[in-house]
Amino acid sequence: MSALARYPSLAGRPVMITGGASGIGAAMVEAFAEQGACVGCIDIDEAAAAGLRERLGDGVELWFRRVDVTDVPALKQAVVDFAEAAGGLGVLINNVANDTRHEPLQVTEEHWRACLAVNLDAAFFASQVAVSIMREAGGGSIVNMSSINALLGPGQMPGYVTAKAGLLGLTKALACDFGADSIRVNSILPGWVVTDRQLDNWLTPEAEAEWMRQVALDRRILPRDVANLALFLAADDSALITNQYFVIDGGRT
Ligand SMILES: NC(=O)c1ccc[n+]([C@@H]2O[C@H](COP(=O)([O-])OP(=O)(O)OC[C@H]3O[C@@H](n4cnc5c(N)ncnc54)[C@H](O)[C@@H]3O)[C@@H](O)[C@H]2O)c1
Repeated sequence: MSALARYPSLAGRPVMITGGASGIGAAMVEAFAEQGACVGCIDIDEAAAAGLRERLGDGVELWFRRVDVTDVPALKQAVVDFAEAAGGLGVLINNVANDTRHEPLQVTEEHWRACLAVNLDAAFFASQVAVSIMREAGGGSIVNMSSINALLGPGQMPGYVTAKAGLLGLTKALACDFGADSIRVNSILPGWVVTDRQLDNWLTPEAEAEWMRQVALDRRILPRDVANLALFLAADDSALITNQYFVIDGGRT
């Protein structure tokens, strides 16, 4: 057991995490499970979900369904079915993403739409279902996983950057529309978080050294660091916080 915070309000709370089988999403699944929340996740990667389940151990029940979030009816149905199985929905973390790099001049119409479908549309449609469940139960918390890329706009990923900036707008729009229903909506903007996917594809020793030169805190940001912030935004400890974005980047921006 770590010496980190405990949030009694999360015990038994139904929490749905999209793209929760690996990376930051998996760290969130583990963090919420440690708090005694009732966790569900959807992902396309069944093997990663099986590994996660094994790490969680026998004592933790993880609700998982293989869903491609670009299949909007399947995405919505999964949120509904999880809420039905868990007895409600207190928290939705819109975490799913695909940050595959893409050269702007080669992006086709089809590629552009596919990029926004996974990186932006899924958050809207999952939220649309979630708020209708949450408002009947008297409230809830939605956390949108944006990125500091929404502020910095790095090259070679225009669709991803556009979607991450769109999530900031979506956060504001939903926070205003559903505040009266006690539904809070916030976003998290991580810097470069050390996941297996980042290490396998882009986080070379040279790139990491360059990153460390740009930050105030020269320590790796781990998935769990981001999960800890998500716990706070999901718990009643942040009851009066909505319509905000939170940067966790070691001081890069
Ligand atoms: N890792 C970073 O450095 C970093 C930095 C800033 C923001 N973020 C954001 O944090 C969140 C999590 O990041 P991550 O690095 O863990 O992401 P990741 O790419 O490692 O994991 C995303 C998860 O989504 C799943 N997924 C992808 N496409 C899917 C689809 N169509 N349907 C269902 N599931 C699908 C993947 O299988 C994976 O489990 C994302 O929103 C990301 O944009 C990450």
